[in-house]
Amino acid sequence: MHKQVPKDSQEDEAITPTYASRFIDEPIAKYVIPDKSQSPDMVYQVIKDELMFDGNAHMNLATFVTTWMEPQASRLMAETFEKNLIDKDEYPQTADIERRCVNMLAQLWHSDNAGQALGTSTVGSSEGCMLAGLAFKCRWQTAHKAKSKGRPNLVLGSNAQICWDKFCRYWEVEPRFVPLERGQYHLRPDKAVALCDENTIGVVGILGSTMDGSYEPIAELAQELDELQASKGLDIPIHVDAASGGFVAPFLQPDLVWDFRLLRVKSINASGHKYGLVYPGVGWVLWRHPDDLPSELVFDVNYLGGEMPTFALNFSRPGNGVIAQYYNFLRLGRQGYMRILQNCQDTALFLSEQIAKMGYFELLSRGDELPVFAFTLLPKIKVSLYDLSDRMRERGWQVPAYSLPKNMENLVVMRIVVKENFSHDIANMFINDLKEQMEWLLAHPYAHSSVPHPSFHH
Ligand SMILES: Cc1ncc(COP(=O)(O)O)c(C=O)c1O
Repeated sequence: MHKQVPKDSQEDEAITPTYASRFIDEPIAKYVIPDKSQSPDMVYQVIKDELMFDGNAHMNLATFVTTWMEPQASRLMAETFEKNLIDKDEYPQTADIERRCVNMLAQLWHSDNAGQALGTSTVGSSEGCMLAGLAFKCRWQTAHKAKSKGRPNLVLGSNAQICWDKFCRYWEVEPRFVPLERGQYHLRPDKAVALCDENTIGVVGILGSTMDGSYEPIAELAQELDELQASKGLDIPIHVDAASGGFVAPFLQPDLVWDFRLLRVKSINASGHKYGLVYPGVGWVLWRHPDDLPSELVFDVNYLGGEMPTFALNFSRPGNGVIAQYYNFLRLGRQGYMRILQNCQDTALFLSEQIAKMGYFELLSRGDELPVFAFTLLPKIKVSLYDLSDRMRERGWQVPAYSLPKNMENLVVMRIVVKENFSHDIANMFINDLKEQMEWLLAHPYAHSSVPHPSFHH
């Protein structure tokens, strides 16, 4: 959300571009649509000049989202910008490519061979989570119409990503958060099950946690819920939020059982634009069986030509993310994904080991699940991780510091997300800078800021 700039604001009203100033005769308005048209080259240069001040993707250790694709993939995306994914009648091949990707993911996530799984692409994991949550709510409403008067609730760890808070607030579901504990930074299955009752629409398991990259124990959760069903008759489904892990675990931990191999797992989402290695704008959500996706949520659209069932929050949306996902599946194959992710993991393990050795930090995770890990300061080290984050930022590195959620809010951590563009050499540069900045902070105790830092949003 952005605020409107008032008319009497002191802000500059015109753009002052760097290199495009060679061609510009008149100022270009910043906040109002200009009256006159401009040449495409000039406008291209003006905008490019400004975007130079965005962060450097190679030094961004904060985001999970893909920042580099091969030139052939970029070309394919640029050539398919016009494809509107909802318009399956005009773009039947794009629609078929989406169907092939859903099938590839169903196989990757071990849906059974009966061909019952179904799914869709989304704008990202957030939309996938909303759709899966809605399916749970609708299924619960149908099953409990006669019986229950209570408010539906959803059980999840307080480490859950913000999209789940949104889901609960937008769709009036009570979130029941399992609090984190020292040494346990994600959902504990026994505690989750203790929060379930007849109004629980489902439990969310996360693979892996946005906070520290660790995997929640989905198989153990399924087992606890089986026991709950045996003892109390409550049949509560699991959704796996595999935003990152859906594209990591099948390649790096193929023996880990977290997916449709567990009968209680009814739906799974993943972000194509994270470890699916596609630029931002694509996610996926799949259901085990048509019974798990209530038919009243699926709309048949025929105004664009043929009949097409859809389940989505948006109507029109770009199709080129799906095409880029398909490019990656064909181009990389399982071996390619495995090689890239193994590199990321090796780098994450190297980094976490070096960081642990420095003598200033304690690891919360090592990067051996997702190639993502978090660390905090040892109690004897009297500096602030927020200050360290600021100093690293001065060197160009974006490495976030944030406090853990409720119950553990006094624990401030830093997190590193290793992506394909973060090589071993860059990791070495990072370690040298981290050491140097820590030494500086320890040598200048009075330079530390005392102002509270804004919290980091996941
Ligand atoms: C576990 C988890 N779920 C959901 C999301 C939201 O994903 P997206 O940005 O694709 O909407 C994220 C993003 O980091 C995440 O880590």
